[in-house]
Amino acid sequence: MIRITLTILCIGYLTVPGLAQVNPKLQSKIDADAKALEPKLIELRRYFHEHPELSNREFKTSAKIVERLKSFGLEVQYPVAKTGVIALLKGGKPGPVVALRADMDALPIAERNGLPFASKAVAEFGGQQTGVMHACGHDAHMAMLLIAAEILAKHKADLKGTVKFIFQPAEEGAPADEWPGGAELMVKEGVLENPKVDAIFGLHIQSLLPSGQLAYRSGGLMASVDGVDIVVKGKGAHGATPWDSVDPVVVAAQIIQGLQTIVSRQTELTKAGAVITIGSIHAGVRRNIIPETATLEGTIRTFDDDMQKKVHEKIKLTAQKIAESAGATAEVDIQIMYPATINHAALTEKMAPTLERTAGKENVVVTQPVTMAEDFSFYQRSVPGFFFFLGAYPAGMNLEAQPTHHTADFMIDETAMITGVKALVNLTVDYMEMNKK
Ligand code: NI
Repeated sequence: MIRITLTILCIGYLTVPGLAQVNPKLQSKIDADAKALEPKLIELRRYFHEHPELSNREFKTSAKIVERLKSFGLEVQYPVAKTGVIALLKGGKPGPVVALRADMDALPIAERNGLPFASKAVAEFGGQQTGVMHACGHDAHMAMLLIAAEILAKHKADLKGTVKFIFQPAEEGAPADEWPGGAELMVKEGVLENPKVDAIFGLHIQSLLPSGQLAYRSGGLMASVDGVDIVVKGKGAHGATPWDSVDPVVVAAQIIQGLQTIVSRQTELTKAGAVITIGSIHAGVRRNIIPETATLEGTIRTFDDDMQKKVHEKIKLTAQKIAESAGATAEVDIQIMYPATINHAALTEKMAPTLERTAGKENVVVTQPVTMAEDFSFYQRSVPGFFFFLGAYPAGMNLEAQPTHHTADFMIDETAMITGVKALVNLTVDYMEMNKK
């Protein structure tokens, strides 16, 4: 009965204007395959959840991935960019090369949510022993991509092109002395070449969106992230005689205020948003000693390359000139980390109907830009890419109390994952159908 219903629905899709690219032969099978593999999907996610590993240390994780990919008969390449895995699936017919990407790393957080498969893993991070937890959902990303690979491999003969599966380490950032890592290193090591990738798709689970909802946006979806360090050098003195000093604490305070006016007064906010946050200030040791230096550390978020460049220039100018006005100096060091995640406009427009067909039109929303960052952006710098969010906010929970990503209580609704699998498979098949060779 279920099969008959699905077939009827699929015929229905074909009659919808604008969705004529659907491969009817495959389409009727994908939903049924995803449903049948759902228990395995959940089991895989729980395995990864229980065995999390930090960035560039995803050894057991990659071993599990390699083992599964080989079991589908795929050509597997390991290691790539430290602990990454690439697998190639050549379809039975000629066509474009589609890449699908999942990230693999966990975070230095001790899990606290009481799940039966909660992590007990510990590891060293920054010289300290810490709990390790999949607190951003990368466990779900790997499980979804493995099941998508299994489904696509099953229909290899009908595939009109090649699929490249990318399991990428260190999305959260490689350890400081192993930079660059993650997607940046994958691209440098040639993941988008041999064969050359025509389009790349990726998703991120999102615990604050309703379960099964898909959210996307054309253009700037997620922000670029850059770090800024400012060292203000003045002149020390007794706290009672500030006129003998060049007080770096007061200069640092003025610089923080000045930096905020870059966003509020000098940035064209109707074009795109921007954020400058100073999250750390260090100066002095005692209340009655004016120190010689003050150090500021901050983070910068933008959605536009041009704006990013301008904000960097203005940060330098503002810090240096404010310091100069007080007779101090300010050394500004900006570390460019991840560029903005910018969805290719034409690709997004072409593929949005696939998301609607996958989740139902009522479950697909156009989201606002998000000021978090994603290193998926590095792939999008080289090839057209489309990144979107999959809601996994557990039904019946209080949204206000819902723990956010990167916290010890983070959790997701596993029933959302089947939608993610279908989205990845459908995007691949539809893209191939639209770009037949
Ligand atoms: Ni993440």
